[in-house]
Formats: sequence, structure tokens, C-alpha cells
Amino acid sequence: MWSSRLMFILAAAGSAVGLGNIWGFPYLAGENGGGVFVLAYLACIALIGLPILIAEILMGRAGRQNPITTMKLLARASGASQFWQIIGWMGALAGFMILSFYGVIAGWAMAYVGDMANGDFVGVTGTEAATVFETFISDPVRVITWQTVFMLVTISITARGVSQGLEKTVQYLMPLLFLLLVILVGYSALTTGHFLEGLGFMFSPDWESFSGDSFIAAMGQAFFTLSLGMGAIMAYGAYMPAGSSVVGTATTIAVLDTSVALMSGLVIFPLVFANGLESSAGPGLMFITLPIAFGQMAGGQIFGTLFFVLVTFAAVTSSISLLEPAVAWVGERLNTSRAKAS
Ligand code: TRP
Repeated sequence: MWSSRLMFILAAAGSAVGLGNIWGFPYLAGENGGGVFVLAYLACIALIGLPILIAEILMGRAGRQNPITTMKLLARASGASQFWQIIGWMGALAGFMILSFYGVIAGWAMAYVGDMANGDFVGVTGTEAATVFETFISDPVRVITWQTVFMLVTISITARGVSQGLEKTVQYLMPLLFLLLVILVGYSALTTGHFLEGLGFMFSPDWESFSGDSFIAAMGQAFFTLSLGMGAIMAYGAYMPAGSSVVGTATTIAVLDTSVALMSGLVIFPLVFANGLESSAGPGLMFITLPIAFGQMAGGQIFGTLFFVLVTFAAVTSSISLLEPAVAWVGERLNTSRAKAS
């Protein structure tokens, strides 16, 4: 069990807040014209994401097992087909699949902490930053090494269990993450001189660059960012104390998650506009565009390092939730310790 409702909120918000918020949301908003995408995203969070978040927490809390066993028990209890447990299986599998690319990108972010601190990006040009990134991601040894380091961190946390591993991690990292983000928004607001332009881009709709595909992207992002549809939240819900308000808790998590995405946009877009860069750079926005921006700014070396530390923390508190359903299942099913299961 989580030791309190606050711990559950921190853990679930930790799962929700991740690469999806800091790396994914800004680049998707940038590619899909800003304001309208943000509107569609907010609507999907409120109308689709939040109800599903509530449902997953409730199902987890009702079943009190790993997501696979929970689906089996709930199907049996309600006289429904046993095939419903396939949902649980698909979830555990999807967690593995997401984690297999999540760990790669989180590894990139970890590598960038060192590069930033080293001053590798001070004064770089656009071409240089792109070359650094492309050379790095085409070097299998470096990429796999960083992915491995990140996975070892993830595994060592889930191995320690709910109260010693997950709670201790989110308890320290989540407040730190919010603090770092507030500092970075302040940095962006005070030093770029383009904060209002960033605000305008995110909140004034440009209908021209929005399409049906943009709507699908906004909906997909809403699912991904709230960690929905694969049992992560169901697994966390299973450890939730009975009697706390599920709707209130879920709303808090959705609000926290959405604020982090919007704040990440407010860090990134002013930096992008201040340096005359493209907001529609795609997935490279965080790894090419931002280092150029930090490389040009006063204090960029320190704040750039802080930024990638923030990304790494956010990724860790998410990856442990991607591994948790599978660990819970292997542990309960094969009756092994959590350490071995992890
Ligand atoms: N929500 C996380 C992010 O935004 C990623 C994540 C963690 C996730 N657990 C999940 C996505 C479960 C889907 C399902 O980065």
C-alpha cells in the first residue's frame, strides 16, 4: 500500500509526468501549429483522459492485484467473458514495448546532462548541434550504454518495492522536478525577451496548420501523457488505500500533468523564438534546438544542465510505472521476490 493519498498522487503524477510532457508535448504542439493543438489536447484530457484515469484507478483498487489478475477477477466477479484478461496481457506487453524506446530516449537525456555540464554546446551553431546529436544517436555503443544505465536505475528502484523504492523516489524527485521547472520558466521569462511570443504561440489558435491528423495526435498525446491504457495506473491503484476520493485524486493528477506540459512549452518556445529557431523541428526540438538556444544564452550552461537533469528525473518516475505491471505479475505469479522479478 501507498502510505498516504499524497504518496499515491505523487507516484501517479510521477508516472504521468515524463518525456511525454517535456519532450513530446512541445514538439507536437510546435508541429501542429500551437494554439489549436493545445486546445484539442486540453479537451481530450478533460473529456476522454480524465474519465479513463478514474476508471483505471477504480479497477485497480477493486482488484488489488497486478493488472492481468485484476482483469481476470473483475471479469469473473461481473459474469463477463474471461477474454477480458487479454486487456491485462496487452497492457503488460505494451509497457515493455513503451519502455524499450522510452529507455533509449531517457538515455539520450542522461548523456546530455554530461554534455551540457561540460560546456559542449556553448556557442554552437545549428549545424554543429545537429551533427552532435546525429553522431551521438548513430553510435550504438554510447546509446546502448546510456540506455543500460537508465534501465539499471529503473530496475533497482522497482526491485526495492513500493514503499522503499517507488515512494522514496517520487517523494524526493517530484518536488525537485517542480522546483526545477519553475526556475526554468523564470529563466525563460526573464532572459529571452520572447516570453509573450511563446505564450501567444501556445494559446492563440492558428486554424490553418491544424488538421484531422493533428486532432488524432492530440488524443494520442492525452492517452500517453496520463499513462493510460496499459495497466500502469491500474497497478498503482491496486496499492491505493480504500476510502480516498478517486475523482478528486484523478483530477489532481490530471491538473499536475497538464501544468507540467504547459510549463515545459513555456520554457521551450521563448528560447526557440529568441534564437530565431523553428518551432516545428519535430522530435529533435529538445535535443538540437534547445542546446543551440542554451548555447547562446547567458547562464545557458547551468540552466541547460538543470534542464536535462529535470528530464532525466521525470523519465525515471515514469519508467518505474512502465515496469511495475510486469514486475507485479511475475512476482505474484511465480512467487519470486520483487528483486528477482525486476
Ligand atoms: N506518461 C509518461 C510520459 O508522459 C509515459 C508513461 C509512463 C506511459 N507510463 C505509461 C505511457 C503507461 C503510457 C502508458 O512520459
